[in-house]
Amino acid sequence: MKNRANPVYCSIDTTDLAHATRLIQSVAGGPNPAVGGIKLGLEFFLAHGAPGVRYAFPTPVRATGVGFFLDLKLHDIPNTVAGGIRAVVELAPTFITIHAGGGRAMMKAAVEEAASQAAKQNVARPKLLGVTVLTSLDRSDLESTGVNADPADQVLRLAALAHESGLDGVICSPHEIAALRKQCGPDFVLMVPGIRPVGSAANDQKRAMTPRQAVDLGATNLVVGRPIYQAQDPRAAAEAIAREAGVNEL
Ligand code: C5P
Repeated sequence: MKNRANPVYCSIDTTDLAHATRLIQSVAGGPNPAVGGIKLGLEFFLAHGAPGVRYAFPTPVRATGVGFFLDLKLHDIPNTVAGGIRAVVELAPTFITIHAGGGRAMMKAAVEEAASQAAKQNVARPKLLGVTVLTSLDRSDLESTGVNADPADQVLRLAALAHESGLDGVICSPHEIAALRKQCGPDFVLMVPGIRPVGSAANDQKRAMTPRQAVDLGATNLVVGRPIYQAQDPRAAAEAIAREAGVNEL
């Protein structure tokens, strides 16, 4: 198989700063990182903020080209979301998430702010990814919020809105990859959690796919948490998953 850039983002879901720092060093440190990027989300960021990011994921680790996915799932009025983006651009995230349900004006304000702040601060423009329908919601949950649609249709609708509003991609479940790739074209980023390597425990991921299946369907990036950070040797686990995803050289 042709070698490809490492698509695997390791999710670090902890509030323990020392633990996060060790994990990041083990999977992403050194000259040959085992992952394509690190995902830090609400749990870590609300506990430690920007100083915590700089401490746990320091410049020397970033310098080898490891990506940084800041999964904040912002959802507020356009002015406030733009302000949130402005506040984190200095951390040079590769990706930031916002809720597509926040609407066109909110997404456009975020896109404009990300571009203008990145230019001002001389960092790469963060790519903005939309969250469509949380996989924890089923049809009746949607209905109780006044949305009378099948979750799969609502995902496509919100992804189209995100695309039109200038977002770079969306987060999606493995089962949504094929339809979204078809609808949004080859360059739209599909960041996919719910990935389990061959032979591993599913945990609470009910409809997981293997790294190979997700990549073959058209995923751009894979988000993997517990199969890496709960492994006895997180680096070896990350390397095995990257290989399953088609990365030959680590
Ligand atoms: O441990 P696991 O591989 O299941 O972690 C997946 C990561 O992706 C977690 O950070 C989780 O919050 C996130 N995620 C998910 N399923 C979704 C959306 C996000 O597992 N539908």
